Amino acid sequence: MDARQLKEAAAAAALTYLQPDTVIGVGTGSTANCFIDLVAAQKERYRGAVASSAASAERLARHGVRVLELNEVMDAGWDIPVYVDGADEIDPGLNLVKGGGGALTREKIVAAASRRFVCIADASKLVDRLGRFPLPLEVIPMARALVEHAARSLGGTPQVRPNFVTDNGNIVIDVAGLSITDPVMLEMRFNSVPGVVTNGLFAQRGADVALIATPDGIRTLTGRP
Ligand code: A5P
Repeated sequence: MDARQLKEAAAAAALTYLQPDTVIGVGTGSTANCFIDLVAAQKERYRGAVASSAASAERLARHGVRVLELNEVMDAGWDIPVYVDGADEIDPGLNLVKGGGGALTREKIVAAASRRFVCIADASKLVDRLGRFPLPLEVIPMARALVEHAARSLGGTPQVRPNFVTDNGNIVIDVAGLSITDPVMLEMRFNSVPGVVTNGLFAQRGADVALIATPDGIRTLTGRP
């Protein structure tokens, strides 16, 4: 199986977590795109989808899936039972690094608004310890130097992502070389740096289930209540 087939297998496995007539939280990236394409084939089953990026909203809309704003869903009192998204790294405790596609802020918002986070990935994303993938930070542009300084003092090597602006009009700084022994603590440390809108650690609210596609089938990891 090639990488694309593994992503499709993980995405297909996530369909079994969806309930009819509900709103789906939809992530961003190549694996989430596979999921969107599968949801589109049965779009009448669902009330609609809340997207975690302009790109995913556009893909959903192109497929004729009803795209809802998070605020309208929550104001209506509707539940989002499941958020489905990929990840850049997943550890055995279901802590994640996300944001390789730069959509980390909206991803964290939609994940937080959803009851269950189902993470879909191929086996290359599974690691013993997070940190090989540089940690993305969404940063307000005027705080760039301050945040770089803070990233260095936390042991990392920051690099502004070239020619990239987030859906929210901010820059992304990728921080390499971090030793992430305590993902929850590091997530809080980066959250407390003024100018950091979001960091790509999903540990305070990690995944509830990870569906890892391997050539031998889907490995299901759980670990959170
Ligand atoms: C988008 O900002 C990211 O968080 C993605 O979810 C992550 O980069 C995984 O993307 P792929 O499915 O393309 O590997």
